[in-house]
Amino acid sequence: MSTTSLPTPDRTDRWWEELPAGRNRLRGRAHLHSDAPELRLDGIWEFRYGSRADGSDLGERAEIEVPGLWQLQGHGAPQYTNVVYPIPRDVPHVPDENPTGHYSRTVAVPAGWAEDLAAGARVLLRFQGVDSAAKVWIDDAEIGVTAGSRLTQEFDVTEALAGPGEHRLDVRVVQWSVNTYVEDQDMWWASGIFRSVDLLLRPADGIHDLVTVADYDPATGRGSLRAAAYDRSGSPLEARVEIPALGLSASTGEEMLVADEVRPWSAEDPHLYEATVRTAGETVSLRLGFRRVEVDGEIFRVNGERIVFRGVNRHEADPVVGRAQHAGNQDLDVALMKQHNLNAVRTSHYPPHQRFLEVCDEAGLYVICEGDFETHGFHADSTGGEDGTGAAEGPAQNPLFEESLLERSDRFVRRDRNHASIVMWSIGNEAASGPVTEAMVARVREIDPTRPVIYEQDYAAEYVDVFSLMYSTVGDTEQIGRRELSPGYQDKLTRMLRSFALDVPDGHFASPPALSKPFLWIEYAHAMGNGAGSLAEYMELTERYPALHGGFIWEWIDHGLETTDAEGNRIHGYGGDFGERLHDGNFVADGLVLPDRTPSPALLDAKHHYSPVGLEVWPGRVRVTNRYAFSDLTHLRAEVSLDAQSSWQELELPATAPGGSAEVPLPVHDGATTTVRLTTREEQGPVPAGHLIVSADHVDAERLRSGLTPPVAEPLAPTQGEDGSWILGPARFDDLGRLVALGDLQVESAGADLYRAPVDNERARTRYPLEARWKRIGLDVARRRLVGIEAEGDALVIRTRLGLDGSALGADVAERWRGDASGADVQVTVTPSAFWPEDLPLPRIGWTFALPSRPDQVQYTGYGPHESYPDTGGGTTFATWHSSLADLQVPYVFPQENGNRAGVVRACLSGGSGPSLGLRAAAGLGLAVRPWSSAELDERAHDGALRPDGRTWVTLSAALHGVGSAACGPIPLPQYVLPAREETFSFRLEAQRP
Ligand code: GAL
Repeated sequence: MSTTSLPTPDRTDRWWEELPAGRNRLRGRAHLHSDAPELRLDGIWEFRYGSRADGSDLGERAEIEVPGLWQLQGHGAPQYTNVVYPIPRDVPHVPDENPTGHYSRTVAVPAGWAEDLAAGARVLLRFQGVDSAAKVWIDDAEIGVTAGSRLTQEFDVTEALAGPGEHRLDVRVVQWSVNTYVEDQDMWWASGIFRSVDLLLRPADGIHDLVTVADYDPATGRGSLRAAAYDRSGSPLEARVEIPALGLSASTGEEMLVADEVRPWSAEDPHLYEATVRTAGETVSLRLGFRRVEVDGEIFRVNGERIVFRGVNRHEADPVVGRAQHAGNQDLDVALMKQHNLNAVRTSHYPPHQRFLEVCDEAGLYVICEGDFETHGFHADSTGGEDGTGAAEGPAQNPLFEESLLERSDRFVRRDRNHASIVMWSIGNEAASGPVTEAMVARVREIDPTRPVIYEQDYAAEYVDVFSLMYSTVGDTEQIGRRELSPGYQDKLTRMLRSFALDVPDGHFASPPALSKPFLWIEYAHAMGNGAGSLAEYMELTERYPALHGGFIWEWIDHGLETTDAEGNRIHGYGGDFGERLHDGNFVADGLVLPDRTPSPALLDAKHHYSPVGLEVWPGRVRVTNRYAFSDLTHLRAEVSLDAQSSWQELELPATAPGGSAEVPLPVHDGATTTVRLTTREEQGPVPAGHLIVSADHVDAERLRSGLTPPVAEPLAPTQGEDGSWILGPARFDDLGRLVALGDLQVESAGADLYRAPVDNERARTRYPLEARWKRIGLDVARRRLVGIEAEGDALVIRTRLGLDGSALGADVAERWRGDASGADVQVTVTPSAFWPEDLPLPRIGWTFALPSRPDQVQYTGYGPHESYPDTGGGTTFATWHSSLADLQVPYVFPQENGNRAGVVRACLSGGSGPSLGLRAAAGLGLAVRPWSSAELDERAHDGALRPDGRTWVTLSAALHGVGSAACGPIPLPQYVLPAREETFSFRLEAQRP
């Protein structure tokens, strides 16, 4: 049959606004691997695009790839909003203008299915993901309507496809529907059939649904399995269950005690057993993990042991296909997570692609599997305020939505409950609280009584099993750990709950149920751009307070989309780059990996603080803390280096039991550094043999200092030229006292530097909008004025004033230079104005210069190999590192300060057209080397738009302000705030002939 004719238009049928949503769908059931025939309908489909859901203005016939999002295939454009709805809040209606994609193709039932069909088999049409609603027709007859973009939907199409030959399948997908109101996740609005479509032959006596509970009793080491199979009508079905490795064969419905000891499943040892479930007509195969999850008072246990979640929130994103995902993305994400010591993931904020959960089972990650539900937009208004009506109308309290939302909860749990990796269910995210969310939690428990249920916005944890909050500060979390909330914190939580239009009595948080339950951060450490800071302090809390179970960093990946800017640069686009009127800018780029899945320094920082083994190194000894719940340390190889990682010798590690720690003696030596590292002995899943798990060091600053060549061998006196310039050894200064050359090396723009290109956590829409305050006083364009140049003995003292436009604020800078035949030393003292506002930190206290000779290779002795800021940089250790200039940059989606290497005592910049530059700083300074200035970083809005300016820029930092998490979380802890204080620092520069 031809696909040229479309279903007969019916202008009266507003299926996309109907509540309860969806028509004619089969009840949710497990996603099973079966030997029953399946036909994948992915590939090129016909596509007609229009702006009206009734299909009355569909355009020309085109082609489109399924799975895929049409906005990423040349039709319409993606839009990014975080909280607000992109359409008027007009429940359950949506605007007339509604981007609509009409998909068509032909389908024929394979001839080989005929016999089964004659014997009573059914044919199901399965959609694994369609955003946001679709009506389905076969040969012009309505089949049904989908509801739940990230939820599998199945229709029985046996009769529709019964006739011989080809049939026409039409799927009309609308961008806006009633579903939009309950799918307000912080991600791109993009539509289409974005996961696979399948035609399934379901044998007459097939296993329609299967529920397995594979339990492990930590007291006896025995496993038990309960398996229940169901037929199409939901009636129990007799089937044979077999687990060959356990010699087990039994019938469904029986409680099957496994006599032998089973090897339990955990994220540390994700052992799975191959199992089959068979009826006469079908064999289903699955991989079962035996494990027990329980909430035991305030402790969350897996197999009897307390678990700390070292987790991350994961959206499904890809820079090219977006949520549709490339084959392999799921495996890659899990591999990267495991390689960076993560042990947990929350599938924020919807059930993921099936493969993701399979890989979590196989590789070992604890999963909080979340339903497809968020209604954040009821709480915020596009005017930037709250319109007051939102909370009460919101689905959590609106019976109009109840049936649909219960069905959503039901559906996602039924799909995924056979996965060992899922240790908890979450009904959704940021959808307020009320009778409907409470009923959703109850429904989840009813469908699966074996797993705890969590929902963050039940702030007092009245109807959930585990208490969670997002972005709570270290201090507030400590109160939760101590199980005692200050009156101020109680008030804050009360206000949060009242913002849902709930009647919350005073004193509600005095001793809420929350304080008798385990706690975790459902989101924390907002990894937007450079940051988040203070993972060390967060993770430390989990060691001190048993009720604190760690949490989930926000988030895994930057959702930047590959595109081109107006100048033709290839960039990663974010909100506003696709012509959106309403958008939330680059808030969509806040992951531990960049859009192309390159680990960002934040992932390396997390790797360190999430390490399953803690290392504390002192001269002559190391304390090793085993943070595993189940494993000893025999699978790890320990080595020590006494020469800043030039050579390593193996160390014997005592078989430290889980939770235990041991002190191991180290060789005593005269050197300044002792480094210890642990690597894997053997490959384990995606983690290769020899992979670094953690390293840590002790650096003796005194010894280090004395080991560096003493500066200024034979001092030379400064001399002044007729033009007012000065010469001091190889250093030349112009008449304004600026360093302009070191021997043959030209130097430009040299001088004290108090600024940095603001990081995302300092920008306008954060809780700590320092950028605006810094710029208001002109810190980004501080003006230098020479105060005086004087020769004082063999020193040249240059005094300058850094002034700020329109303000008497500023800083006095004194540079005291001394030179010898090979180089020049300087001691810089920066004294900010005494009346500098106390609440206005400085971005940096440092010194910057540019080299027009463009050196492009950097060798540095300091902390590397990745960047560090005062509250980040976990996993950096002291050594001599080498990097190209390009590799020292971090291409954050939104350009900002990056690339600082901490504690650098020595560096050499080589390559380019001039002599090398040698640099020494006995006390250690931050070093950033870039092909562009801070001003360029500050000015550009996209990674791909940065332009090298023909110089290599060098910034030395004596002090830096922490980066914190304020884009969506706390400001830097007090110890990481850089007050405007006086700072003195020294370094030496040498131009070195090759
Ligand atoms: C949370 C929300 C996430 C994300 C994050 C900010 O409030 O649950 O979905 O929006 O903030 O990036």
